[in-house]
Amino acid sequence: MHVFRDIEELRDWRRSAALAGRTVALVPTMGYLHEGHLSLCRIAATHADCVVASIFVNPTQFGPGEDLDSYPRDEGSDLVKLAENGVHCAFLPTADMMYPTGYETFVEVQGLTAPLCGASRPGHFRGVTTVVCKLFHLVEPQVAVFGLKDYQQFLVIRKMAGDLLMDIRVVGGPIVRAPDGLALSSRNAYLSHRGRKAATVLYRGLAAAREAYRGGERDPGALRAVALEPILAEPLARVDYVEVLDAETLAEPSAERPMVVAMAVFVEKPRLIDNMVLGAALAE
Ligand code: PAF
Repeated sequence: MHVFRDIEELRDWRRSAALAGRTVALVPTMGYLHEGHLSLCRIAATHADCVVASIFVNPTQFGPGEDLDSYPRDEGSDLVKLAENGVHCAFLPTADMMYPTGYETFVEVQGLTAPLCGASRPGHFRGVTTVVCKLFHLVEPQVAVFGLKDYQQFLVIRKMAGDLLMDIRVVGGPIVRAPDGLALSSRNAYLSHRGRKAATVLYRGLAAAREAYRGGERDPGALRAVALEPILAEPLARVDYVEVLDAETLAEPSAERPMVVAMAVFVEKPRLIDNMVLGAALAE
């Protein structure tokens, strides 16, 4: 596996891949990799000849007081995992490279970024779309793969690629869960033993909403109440949001169309997010 820390090295490699007629899939990450990320690398390998994974803790998507400085990092172990999962190139830029002195250009998707994490974390998606747009320009992938745990992020990036006429297929990888249902996340590392147990309330809420939906419930307010119940009963959990929205547009849902139950919940220190689509599977 190539490990590039320099933009020019990456560009040289990309040029030679293009000359050799090889297609490229990109998996952007912030590192501290777990099975969820690695599943995205394996999905990427089914879509292209070469897989590039980036590791970059992007400062512009963190707000004041968020966990930028303490975000977990383990570069050595990340590189071993990427190599073992079929990645051809790891790209590890620095913040100075990605944001040259005096930069003043951002990419922003409107509308889709208004609810959910966009409302709770002002500026977050602007940072995400800006860095992903830069990575798309540097890597020039035919395909890019993002985890559906960050459901709104997936929709926002897909919208950016479409709106900016990028010739890149944005593919979503299914959420990978621990046996007790907790969605894998780098931020789970912040949980104590007790907090880790408490964190299962997110999945329990989603599973309860799914059961209600399967039983014929279509009223978004009722589905939301069902999802909230186990979370409100857990003393270590504090709800940021639990919403039921249209799965494609994130607007008000209607009974005839797929809905997403999306939630962000603080459990001890970390803010965990999770979601479940009801009525259809959304893969890409
Ligand atoms: O999902 C993430 O880890 C990040 O938001 C991403 C897409 C790598 C952009 O920094």
